[in-house]
Amino acid sequence: RRTPVARQEDGGYVVSTYREITALLHNPHLSSDAHNLDQPGPTLAMRGDTPAFIGLDPPQHDRLRRMAMRHFGPPHSPRLVNDLRPDLNAIVTRLIDNLVSKDEIDIVDDFAYPFPVTVICHLLGVPREDEPRFHGWVEAIVAMLDVDPATGSEERVREGVQARESLREYLAGLLESRRGRPAGDDLLSRLANDDGPDGRMTDEEIVSTANLLLIAGHETTVNLITNGVLTLLRHPDVLERLRREPEMIIRTVEELLRYEPPVHLIPWRAAYSDLTVADTVIPKGSRITLVLASGNRDPAYFRDPDRFDPDRRENQHLGFGAGVHLCFGAPLARLEAQIALNELFHNLESPRLVADPPPYRQSAVLRGPRHLLVRQE
Ligand code: HEM
Repeated sequence: RRTPVARQEDGGYVVSTYREITALLHNPHLSSDAHNLDQPGPTLAMRGDTPAFIGLDPPQHDRLRRMAMRHFGPPHSPRLVNDLRPDLNAIVTRLIDNLVSKDEIDIVDDFAYPFPVTVICHLLGVPREDEPRFHGWVEAIVAMLDVDPATGSEERVREGVQARESLREYLAGLLESRRGRPAGDDLLSRLANDDGPDGRMTDEEIVSTANLLLIAGHETTVNLITNGVLTLLRHPDVLERLRREPEMIIRTVEELLRYEPPVHLIPWRAAYSDLTVADTVIPKGSRITLVLASGNRDPAYFRDPDRFDPDRRENQHLGFGAGVHLCFGAPLARLEAQIALNELFHNLESPRLVADPPPYRQSAVLRGPRHLLVRQE
């Protein structure tokens, strides 16, 4: 409340209030392109890469996003994604069948981690036997995004760069194997064969887009499900109601996205020009970090913000960001979390947390437990 905009020692700026964050997310003078940044730090696209659209500004961003959206559905419309419901149910049921007989379950490793990667692989048409390799690659890439340039380990960056290369090579090979075959129903084949009004995507653009969906859609969803299990076990009254009224899951997931957002902050924006935000002048080229989690608990916008309350009327949370980069996978992430949480709590016998708080992953950007042990009693 006292410092909506704070200057960091390295010259970057941190913005933490709802109104200012929302305005900046809609401000065309803010760039997601690392080339506009004067400072080092976490970026989404390394220089020299063909960047995916999350690291591009309009108009290049808009063309690629529009093309991908034709096969995924717009972020506010669950229409296309709803067709996936039976597949998601089948994947969740398979995972739950393997864990209901266990006395102790790690919600992260046994459930939340394999679920979204299986879904994305299914969407992209990745063969099941290749899925375990994705886990390692995706984990190494996400770990690299969190490396602090001042103190971070070079080893982690090296591993991340290598994993990114392996993933790109793998996806390029997969795309190659789709060419010359009749168009399949998977996303890679559809993007490769799309002759829509925006023209064709190049192979590089398709690989970057597939890569983005994997990275952006995996750890985030893991955290939403794991934060959801933890929060519901800490709020037995809400869990009790949810068991009786499963349709309450829709607003429960929205409240989770506000109360425990998987993406805590967006650290990769740059000021295109000098900007004045809440009386502070942010010079052109500065890194701007937007703390979504703090905006979500801003008392000027949310009543009683530290209370987990799925019944709140207004819940325009920042969990999926806002503006031109508003999360592209939001309907899928919502559906995954709704199905995962409802099915899990429907099938587990009196689950109890083994440790509270659980160990957290070492990440400032993505927040969620590294492990979440649950015992059935
Ligand atoms: C963008 C959060 C799941 C794909 C974003 C952004 C946030 C976010 C905050 C904005 C980034 C920015 O402004 O720079 C989340 C959360 C998720 C989730 C909390 C899960 C709970 C997914 C899934 C997918 C996905 C499942 C795809 C399968 C994307 C893409 C973008 C994006 C492609 C970039 C959009 C653009 O640049 O136009 N997400 N996401 N996300 N997300 Fe998600």
